[in-house]
Amino acid sequence: MLKQEPQDGEQSLADPNFRADVLSGLGGQPRAIPARWFYDRRGSELFEAITDLPEYYPTRTETALLMQIGPQLGALAASNAAVVEFGSGSSAKTPILLRAIDPAAYVPIDISGEFLRHSARELSAGFPGLPVLPVEADFLRPVPLPPEVSGLPKLGFFPGSTIGNMNAFHAVDLLRAMREWLGEGARLLIGMDRIKSPGILVPAYDDAQGVTAAFNLNLLERINRELAGTIPVEAFRHRAIWNADAARIEMHLEAQREVEFSVDGRTFAMDAGETIHTENSHKYGPNGGRMLLRAGGWTPIREWTDPQDWFALMLCEAQPLRMAP
Ligand code: AVJ
Repeated sequence: MLKQEPQDGEQSLADPNFRADVLSGLGGQPRAIPARWFYDRRGSELFEAITDLPEYYPTRTETALLMQIGPQLGALAASNAAVVEFGSGSSAKTPILLRAIDPAAYVPIDISGEFLRHSARELSAGFPGLPVLPVEADFLRPVPLPPEVSGLPKLGFFPGSTIGNMNAFHAVDLLRAMREWLGEGARLLIGMDRIKSPGILVPAYDDAQGVTAAFNLNLLERINRELAGTIPVEAFRHRAIWNADAARIEMHLEAQREVEFSVDGRTFAMDAGETIHTENSHKYGPNGGRMLLRAGGWTPIREWTDPQDWFALMLCEAQPLRMAP
């Protein structure tokens, strides 16, 4: 999840996909830039700081839940399971799961090879004897899993409510890709943030200390640094809104006055009050969450939530697909 991109990005180091997403995103209507570009080194640090904020309940709620259900997960998991984590490995959650189910192998999958090797090394130190077999790949373009795990029962792990960054269409694509990857009979443990009062949700994405604002605004700094941008960052304000129809928190960067700037030689103009949409964080009720999993080819088999019902961990299985009836 947390990508460590080069910080002193000379322009020559800029990722061509970043350039393409920013240029088309700023030129489009509504203006929007994919949330994955938050995570340069500074953005990853700011996200880590977000997870410690008093208002940001998801990380601590999911972590506590995982610790609490550890024994149940241990009893449910096969003794020779291979844990396959999607977008992996930096969090405190992984060791909790590994300790609970004592798997035969751990396969972290991430698109950032450098980051993957670093977190694999850290994990190996804490679990001597556990084969750690990192795979550098994009979830949406499955590559073969390491041959060492081919005969083992698979447990996918996708915590953090990262699925919430996608709309339902793309979330279903991803769930289906995971099913292809792990195979029929596999299980998946996935974290989903629940729909709750906007009075709780909005402050979680607009904290009093302004860390989330800095996280959002860092995207503009990154564009200026890596794509020769002239965006007047001080003219933008962080906005977090609850979109009730779409059941999601949206983050935007709102121009406080009329602005004109250039990025990579192309000029853009925005009116006062216009925004750049930078993130969606979808929330799910119990039925919506289960429906999403089923649409992705995963049958829900168990779920756990905290006492306030704020965050859910859902265990599902890739059962053979049957036509009705
Ligand atoms: C990492 C996508 C789960 O949506 O809650 C936190 C990212 N953005 N605060 C989330 C995020 C603003 C986070 N996810």
